[in-house]
Amino acid sequence: MQFPEYRPRRMRKNENFRRMIRETTLSVDDFMYPLFVVSGKGIKKPIASMPGNYQMSIDQLVKEVKTAKEAGIPAVLLFGIPDRKDEVASGAFARDGLMQRAVREIKSKVPDILVVTDVCLCEYTSHGHCGMIEKGEVDNDSTLEVLAETAVSHGRAGADMVAPSAMMDGQIGVIREGLDEAGFEAIPIMAYAAKYASCFYGPFRDAAESAPQFGDRKSYQMDPANSDEAIREIALDVAEGADIIMVKPALAYLDVIRRAREEFDLPIAAYNVSGEFAMIKAAAQLGWLDGQRAMMEVLTSIKRAGTDIIITYFALEAAKVLNGSKSTA
Ligand code: PBG
Repeated sequence: MQFPEYRPRRMRKNENFRRMIRETTLSVDDFMYPLFVVSGKGIKKPIASMPGNYQMSIDQLVKEVKTAKEAGIPAVLLFGIPDRKDEVASGAFARDGLMQRAVREIKSKVPDILVVTDVCLCEYTSHGHCGMIEKGEVDNDSTLEVLAETAVSHGRAGADMVAPSAMMDGQIGVIREGLDEAGFEAIPIMAYAAKYASCFYGPFRDAAESAPQFGDRKSYQMDPANSDEAIREIALDVAEGADIIMVKPALAYLDVIRRAREEFDLPIAAYNVSGEFAMIKAAAQLGWLDGQRAMMEVLTSIKRAGTDIIITYFALEAAKVLNGSKSTA
């Protein structure tokens, strides 16, 4: 096809032509909405670097989940921020822990929205690492049983799906085994399969009070320069029983999402992380970008790359746009 026989502009002439040939359509069905829970009552504390997002006590959280459900969002992803942290992350798997109580409360008060739980230890450890520390290092195999116990405790509380994000080798296998042994063979696992050691988690670590107190996460999260390794990580999680595979962050890793889409036939989730959210919000606040259009463009790009599920702090705002109009442009 060559000019002047093919004139691509013909099909861009007006919105009806554009709608007709649009390849990617965002939908509220695509979204998973991350939320942060703290203890207490009546608390809805704004997170400075994530405008429109809050640390919420369970009563406020329930209200937010209702709003999400009314907007048509199919799932929320919960992060617990406990009052007390210790060396061994006891709060992560406590029967009456914050996350466990939050899940129970949402399940009893807001029927018909999926409650997905982050399975990690960094919010619960005094040192802020995602695993057990032995001889100054994050120890893989002793962390595995704690992760499995945490996932099972979420299952007991009524979680619809668990999302392990600690990036320990073998975590999906032991969690699958743990869930099955406890009778939760019907609970799926959304595996943070290719999770990079990214600076874009900065605002989240403020929100979740989970920054490592020494060192960094580079010995367990992936090197941003690697993409073949992402394929190996994902293959491992698939072999261990993942039901959904995730790439995280999303925007700086759209090529990894695309490769994953081409090489695997499982549903793919992408996490549009806190820093990706914050940079659009910041630019919009400065008047440097049209925040709403930037949001829709970015979310569309993540879907176009090959994603089925977009985990995003924009979920509620984008749902409002989608529910209010047909055009995403
Ligand atoms: C770890 C976890 C992190 C995020 C989700 N789960 C932070 C980290 O690995 O340091 C980041 C999410 C975001 O930035 O939005 N439990």
